[in-house]
Amino acid sequence: KWDLLTTSQLSAKEIQEIILSASEFAGGEMWQPKEKLFISNLFYEPSTRTKSSFEMAERKLGLEVIPFEVQTSSVLKGETLYDTVKTLEAIGTNAVVIRHSTDNFFSELEKGINIPIINAGDGKGHHPTQSLLDLMTIQQEFGRFTDLTVTIIGDILHSRVARSNADALIRLGAKVVFSGPEDWVDQNQLPPGCCYMSADEAIELADVVMLLRVQHERHDGKLLFDKNEYHRKHGLTLEREKLMKQGSIILHPAPVNRGVEIADDLVESPKSRIFKQMENGVYIRMAALKRALENRNGGLEYVDSN
Ligand code: CP
Repeated sequence: KWDLLTTSQLSAKEIQEIILSASEFAGGEMWQPKEKLFISNLFYEPSTRTKSSFEMAERKLGLEVIPFEVQTSSVLKGETLYDTVKTLEAIGTNAVVIRHSTDNFFSELEKGINIPIINAGDGKGHHPTQSLLDLMTIQQEFGRFTDLTVTIIGDILHSRVARSNADALIRLGAKVVFSGPEDWVDQNQLPPGCCYMSADEAIELADVVMLLRVQHERHDGKLLFDKNEYHRKHGLTLEREKLMKQGSIILHPAPVNRGVEIADDLVESPKSRIFKQMENGVYIRMAALKRALENRNGGLEYVDSN
């Protein structure tokens, strides 16, 4: 079976294949499994975009979505993640999408679970479909990754998006620059070839400015934080946007804290691709689901209904 757990599990070739498949869906290609297949979305952490776009992708592919809400499930009686997934497998679910607050939650599912697992975000670990949709948006804009500089600004230390993206971008030939509060960027642990710069420097040389949300929920309640000061020192202010290169773009995985990571007026400005990212998220998730279902047990017959 094929699970999508991390971006680092994917070769550069596989990343390009998934982006191509997503682009075909964006261009109107249709694909549906020949038989009725069932899927469930297990979100142990809040989500708007990832959950809704997985559901949209699943319905576009003609999958039957089995509702699962943690708050009304036996998770509240102490049932483990493993037993929950094993139960869904036993009743006939063909794949699961999971978001969980535990880093690498999928390691406890490695043995015994026989249906594909798609990671919709694990703690501070990984967010592979977010990374793939970011990459698709960059590819759409520039047609390449080589020689591009991608500046990632914000709460790097607590961000699964930063980790997933940096890994993939470097392998695809881009240069990655980090910026943000020094306490949130471990400069001794930067991936090879990456560097740390002030927001002004990093924004000026970027082809892609990727802003990250401050991950309040991952600071163990210890976060002393002045929104205005953060915006002034590290945010994409109206003044900093003027430093951006011609043709450069703004990305943000969202939810956006308007006026903190990015000035309110820039969220829907000409350089922003923030809502394009969300649109691409549906196609990337269609491509990931197709790949997982095609490879779920040695390959099945599927219909292309173009
Ligand atoms: N970008 C992202 O993962 O958003 P949600 O938390 O709303 O799913």
